[in-house]
Amino acid sequence: MAMAAPLTLVVVAAAVAVVFVGGGVEGWVLKEGFYEQSCPRAEALVKHYVEQHVPLAPSVAATLIRTHFHDCFVRGCDASVLLNGTDGAEAEKDAAPNLTLRGFAFIDRIKSVVESECPGVVSCADILALATRDAISVIGGPFWRVATGRRDGRVSIKQEALDQIPAPTMNFTDLLSSFQSKGLDLADLIWLSGAHTIGIAHCNSFSKRLYNFTGKGGPGDADPSLDAEYAANLRRSKCAAPSDNTTIVEMDPGSFLTFDLGYYRGLLRRRGLFQSDAALVTDAAAEANIASVVSSPPEVFFQVFARSMAKLGMVGVKTGSEGEIRKHCALVNDIHY
Ligand SMILES: *[C@@H]1O[C@H](CO)[C@@H](O)[C@H](O)[C@H]1NC(C)=O
Ligand SMILES: *[C@@H]1O[C@H](CO)[C@@H](O)[C@H](O)[C@H]1NC(C)=O
Ligand SMILES: *[C@@H]1O[C@H](CO)[C@@H](O)[C@H](O)[C@H]1NC(C)=O
Ligand SMILES: *[C@@H]1O[C@H](CO)[C@@H](O)[C@H](O)[C@H]1NC(C)=O
Ligand SMILES: *[C@@H]1O[C@H](CO)[C@@H](O)[C@H](O)[C@H]1NC(C)=O
Repeated sequence: MAMAAPLTLVVVAAAVAVVFVGGGVEGWVLKEGFYEQSCPRAEALVKHYVEQHVPLAPSVAATLIRTHFHDCFVRGCDASVLLNGTDGAEAEKDAAPNLTLRGFAFIDRIKSVVESECPGVVSCADILALATRDAISVIGGPFWRVATGRRDGRVSIKQEALDQIPAPTMNFTDLLSSFQSKGLDLADLIWLSGAHTIGIAHCNSFSKRLYNFTGKGGPGDADPSLDAEYAANLRRSKCAAPSDNTTIVEMDPGSFLTFDLGYYRGLLRRRGLFQSDAALVTDAAAEANIASVVSSPPEVFFQVFARSMAKLGMVGVKTGSEGEIRKHCALVNDIHY
């Protein structure tokens, strides 16, 4: 591995930064097997449900990882993304694209299985973190250890999601500061973006790059950082109308259900779909790290991805007596009708 030097650099930075970001109240941190006494089968129930259902609908894995990511970026990993709005006030989930929404019912079903065994014990935030890990594992992706003991939040505000979830139009600088604002770093930005190996996107979420990049419109106004041949292909065969909000494009064409290096290979060929994908190779260090991982066995990607996922799952967690253990993931406990 002649090109391993830059990779080592970023990996080391990530390893040093494995701290409990916003680890809740002093003295309380997450730990593996948190429910060993209180609900011994909790993790097995989640895993069993995922193993039974994800093979029938493997795209749920992408939905879950996106939902977990969105959750952690707003008010920490506290399942605030799962809460319904109340009294006409819109919640985080009302800011989520349709593609994210499908995961909520999946989590709700796991929650009801777990509730029937141990009522009021296992948080929705932990179920989301565990189910995400298990789903990625079921589709042949990396495995990481999930510490548990997260508590559920009671607040969910649409505007916070709009403000804090990194936008697909962001450039490298803005992406990095968005991640840094959550205690995540360059390595986490690069490797968590790798989740797009199983991603899909609607045409209208990137069609500006195909048709109207500068706002002038007309032929030739494509994003110059997007491979011209690929852009022409997309215009011709997939996204024939800029306003198309139904056609779905695979972010890693040909292997969007497989956790592999195809997404990063695409980036190096200037074929990332979102500006935020293309942005990763506008930074020399990031590009060198990606090139290094692409030329390594997939296990190297799995390792760095797993490390960053474990870190993501710690962001801003609530522990101890903070928050609550929701009975239903879409509702705070003391809601009155
Ligand atoms: C949450 O909102 C969704 C969509 O509006 C609705 O279908 C669902 O029944 C709500 N969940 C609960 C528990 O009220
Ligand atoms: C990134 O985008 C922001 C606007 O969102 C802009 O202010 C900034 O100059 C851009 N940075 C670079 C390096 O292009
Ligand atoms: C291109 O973008 C500009 C500014 O964002 C907008 O005013 C214009 O209507 C767009 N043109 C087309 C053809 O969509
Ligand atoms: C998709 O586009 C159609 C036609 O422009 C519009 O009526 C519809 O509301 C759009 N749907 C979404 C989810 O944006
Ligand atoms: C988004 O979801 C709504 C309600 O489920 C549906 O009517 C609409 O067609 C969906 N839009 C897209 C673009 O899938």
